[in-house]
Amino acid sequence: MSDYHEPVLLQACIDGLNLQPGGTYVDITFGGGGHSREILRQLGPDSAGRLFGFDQDADARVNAQAIGDSRLTFVASNFRNIKRYLRLYKAEQVDGILADLGISSHQIDTPERGFSTRFDADLDMRMNQQADRTARQVVNSYPEPELHRILGMYGEVTNARTVAAALVSARSNRSIDTVNDLKNALQRYAPRGKENKFFAQVFQALRIEVNEELVALEEFLEQVPEILKPGGRLVVMSYHSLEDRLVKNFINKGKFQGEVEKDLYGNDIKPLQSITRKPIEATPDEIARNPRARSAKLRIAEKI
Ligand SMILES: C[S@@+](CC[C@H](N)C(=O)[O-])C[C@H]1O[C@@H](n2cnc3c(N)ncnc32)[C@H](O)[C@@H]1O
Repeated sequence: MSDYHEPVLLQACIDGLNLQPGGTYVDITFGGGGHSREILRQLGPDSAGRLFGFDQDADARVNAQAIGDSRLTFVASNFRNIKRYLRLYKAEQVDGILADLGISSHQIDTPERGFSTRFDADLDMRMNQQADRTARQVVNSYPEPELHRILGMYGEVTNARTVAAALVSARSNRSIDTVNDLKNALQRYAPRGKENKFFAQVFQALRIEVNEELVALEEFLEQVPEILKPGGRLVVMSYHSLEDRLVKNFINKGKFQGEVEKDLYGNDIKPLQSITRKPIEATPDEIARNPRARSAKLRIAEKI
């Protein structure tokens, strides 16, 4: 499966789930199924356990079929719908949930998906190929202040205002339809010597917007306390600070902003208890083998 995606921090994720024989688990970002395969293996061959694998990318389904394990149910849906689907499958509460956020190597390495700055292709960037909104629509139709906000917030692009204005000016001549159209429109705004970083930030911003990544993550996290059994584990791997901040705040404070609420006795009111004081990161060895592991931050929590 490593052609599709090499799983990151594999054993740390499995340890974080604290697998119980016969337990029910959810891998909400199935991808190549690298983590799922290992969950099934470590649940043991005779285990009556169950695993649900969510992915909004139709390409992931074949990887679930390739595993061919009757304990695995593939759910072709956005993980923001997790509660609804678990109810449908009569698994209202589960023992552990794993999230390995972002895009897979398969998605970024498939030129026509438009995720990569390395290939020319339509500006698409949808994880779910059935979704309505593409990066092309975002770039060509969003008002300038919106583009400014997205580039600044989601991409942490330092000259976001200038870049937004440049997009609006370029598209008034000719629509920006491809990766190369976008790069050509912005080339002169890329800081000298930091072009790769600049375009990576612009692409990240567009990708987050196209796929509503932060909104989906918030919606998912809000459902976690209800769908985890007491003592159940939440294991989340994020790859940029915006995601990690949401995960960290939700685990530590039970909400995304502000301070944790207290009861009359001064006890914290929050549904999860952090298991990792600091996020777990990949070792230099793993990063050398799999550069994608470089920015991974793994957080583990338990339902109180
Ligand atoms: C980093 S990859 C996961 C790789 C996987 N752990 C493995 O070992 O192969 C992330 C996957 O999650 C999917 N994904 C991201 N956001 C999603 C969402 N909101 N709902 C459903 N799937 C999502 C992507 O389509 C992608 O296939």
